[in-house]
Amino acid sequence: MEHQTGMTKEDRAIVSGALSKLLADTYVLYVKTQHFHWNIHGPEFYALHLLAQKHYEEMAGAIDEIAERIRALGFFVEGSMESFLKLSSISEDHEIHPKHKFIENLIQSHEVVIRDARKLAQIAEKYQDPATVDLMGRRLIAHEQAAWMLRSQL
Ligand SMILES: [Fe+2]
Repeated sequence: MEHQTGMTKEDRAIVSGALSKLLADTYVLYVKTQHFHWNIHGPEFYALHLLAQKHYEEMAGAIDEIAERIRALGFFVEGSMESFLKLSSISEDHEIHPKHKFIENLIQSHEVVIRDARKLAQIAEKYQDPATVDLMGRRLIAHEQAAWMLRSQL
């Protein structure tokens, strides 16, 4: 059955493609944040452990919302870690870093997602998709706040 929502299939595909990149980056950042939560050590351990938990729990909800937005636009979601790693421009952590390096790495990754969301808001605006624009506004609030909180620990 055809979609009669006021967006063409081509326009929905463009927004959905950009959402797939945002989903992949958010997923890799989610795993990176858990890696930090588990492995951060030192005198500020507990505060940073809890801050990371707050961030990854928030992202878990967002990941579901982003993926379901892709489905609502009429496309299937690439749901494997392999596809997320291929699409994402954030690299995984394989080491236990000192606090500063861990935090800088997380901030840079939040900034990748912030740039994705800002660009996506413009794309969604262009293709008259205010629901995605709204979602991007909420992603910007969450990731800009997370980056600020992490930066304040440096
Ligand atoms: Fe935990």
